[in-house]
Amino acid sequence: MANNKYIRAILLLLSAAIYLYQPAYSQDDSDTPPLLTNVSASMLANTCSGCHGPGGRSLGPATPTISGMSPTFFIKQMEGYKSGKLPSTIMKRIVDGYTSAEIKQMAEFFSKQPFIAAKGQQSDKKLIPIGKKLHKKYCEKCHSKGGQSVEDDTGILTGQWKRYLETSMQDYISGERIATKKMQHKIEVLMKKKGINGLRALIDYYARPLPKKQEG
Ligand code: HEC
Ligand code: HEC
Repeated sequence: MANNKYIRAILLLLSAAIYLYQPAYSQDDSDTPPLLTNVSASMLANTCSGCHGPGGRSLGPATPTISGMSPTFFIKQMEGYKSGKLPSTIMKRIVDGYTSAEIKQMAEFFSKQPFIAAKGQQSDKKLIPIGKKLHKKYCEKCHSKGGQSVEDDTGILTGQWKRYLETSMQDYISGERIATKKMQHKIEVLMKKKGINGLRALIDYYARPLPKKQEG
């Protein structure tokens, strides 16, 4: 697409501005040695922070947090946007401007940033235990540790922004986003038996307040 270069140029300018404006941000990778590859990884990652927040810790509800994500899942998502298999509002246009090597570099960078749960989300206290049960029954197998697992390579659900989870679930239910057969089946059974209220309880469970030490 002809406008990819244009979008990337804007993103680079934006990131340069953010980079200059927030010198403290470079503390994020203070534990990585100052090799050239690391410098460029954090520079690449800076182009994302306008939306995904510093170090990938998103501050807005429609943009998912991508810090602490497993590199395998990160690459899977990015390649999914690139091929068009994974629906997106904006990511396809963005990812088209990056090579596979650059995506890999960014995957490593973001995986090293600590995950921090979205702050200030409202959860209905009565729905959390219902959601917990539903999660155990339908989702825990592949989203272990109560939806907090990184190792499963299936995305961190607990602490993710609710709006992003809602959109993702809507896309799975409508078939616009293709889940694995087993997950698709679980969602179908869940929706048939518990309906929209069940889904709401699940999402409120993922947005539950976490003990301080798990907030990151
Ligand atoms: C203009 C805002 C914007 C920018 C800039 C942006 N993203 Fe995104 N990103 C989104 C949105 C919104 C989504 C959800 C999918 C969609 O609708 O496009 C998303 C989704 C993602 C996901 C999937 C998250 C998940 O849980 O599945 C990854 C990974 C990601 N972005 C990485 C990046 C990287 C790396 C960059 C920088 C090269 C970047 N994004 C730049 C808005 C943005
Ligand atoms: C058989 C395994 C399996 C089960 C069961 C499962 N999932 Fe998934 N889930 C996955 C995989 C694999 C992914 C990775 C992305 C993809 O394939 O779309 C995923 C991704 C997701 C995502 C997107 C995360 C992101 O960051 O973009 C959400 C939301 C989600 N699952 C919710 C659920 C819910 C809710 C349940 C229970 C009703 C569930 N899953 C059950 C395997 C599973």
